[in-house]
Amino acid sequence: MNKLVIFLALVACASAADWSAYKTRFGKSYRSLNEEQLRLRMFEKNKRIIEQHNKRFEAGEESYDMGLNEFSDLSFEEFQALYLSSFDAAAAASVEQQIDEVSSRAAPSSLDWRSKGAVTAVKHQGSCGSCWTFSAAGCLEGAHFIKTGKLVTISEQNILDCSSRAPYNNMGCNGGYTSQALQYIIDNGGVNYMSNYPYEGAVKTCRYNRNSIAATMRSRSSVARTEAALKEATANKGPIAVSVVVTDKFQNYKSGVFNDNTCAGKVVNHGVLVVGYGNDSAGDYWIVKNSWGKSWGESGYIRMSRNRSNQCQIASYGLVAVV
Ligand SMILES: *[C@@H]1O[C@H](CO)[C@@H](O)[C@H](O)[C@H]1NC(C)=O
Ligand SMILES: *[C@@H]1O[C@H](CO)[C@@H](O)[C@H](O)[C@H]1NC(C)=O
Repeated sequence: MNKLVIFLALVACASAADWSAYKTRFGKSYRSLNEEQLRLRMFEKNKRIIEQHNKRFEAGEESYDMGLNEFSDLSFEEFQALYLSSFDAAAAASVEQQIDEVSSRAAPSSLDWRSKGAVTAVKHQGSCGSCWTFSAAGCLEGAHFIKTGKLVTISEQNILDCSSRAPYNNMGCNGGYTSQALQYIIDNGGVNYMSNYPYEGAVKTCRYNRNSIAATMRSRSSVARTEAALKEATANKGPIAVSVVVTDKFQNYKSGVFNDNTCAGKVVNHGVLVVGYGNDSAGDYWIVKNSWGKSWGESGYIRMSRNRSNQCQIASYGLVAVV
């Protein structure tokens, strides 16, 4: 009896230390004791999933490891509601022209636009399903750099405020279409710098300033829906905005080549940016820039499986900004 009590107390104690370290590391504070207890339960659940996964990783059975992050105190359903969006990506893609899959210029076997200076620092979308503004800004930042040699940081808030209404019909923090965000920039004649129109993570009134244009674009086009076409487009056009399926595995990703066979058959719910590709002993991968800050994944990036039957739909909705 005594032994049991001591055992329980020790477990609770270790867990409390973990929890308190977690809260400190990610600057967490909660409104009430009830809220904190709910968050602690989610944290413990995620922690168990992560520990079990990492045992398989250490045994060489997984190509990536998981880790605690800013989202470890949320259930997947809560995480989905706060950070992901639901797209009718098929409808959004069907209005667009396809670019040629076959190009005379061959793609190298690996490529990283970050090392060429075409990619801005990792941003953070906050508790707002505005990923579609980040993937749109990212592909234009890349295309603008390739054309002008200048890397500018584009204002996602500008896109969020000004295209979350007719005729673009984006849904603000509840999600939207990367293609419609790009269409707004085309119609508007440009988009502002982030420094002059900083991110707030909520839809506010449109404050576009025509005297502070960071970049303009002429048109947008979609990439043919194969991984070979995505590779060719990444090499020859620059960083590509894509939509992917995000599951609870992605929520807990830490490092390595992400491999998620639970994506199959699901609808895309997140907009990200392909900035390169490569391969290592864990397999072929896409280098993907996310918008959840630098503490998530590999300093804000994830390497997603490449050449694994278009896993998580990575090649299904690629978009290019034509400047
Ligand atoms: C990457 O792929 C190339 C061929 O495409 C291969 O020669 C090389 O060994 C691979 N690298 C690793 C680390 O597996
Ligand atoms: C995909 O993998 C298969 C088998 O490993 C290989 O033959 C093929 O060349 C790869 N395709 C691409 C586009 O990397």
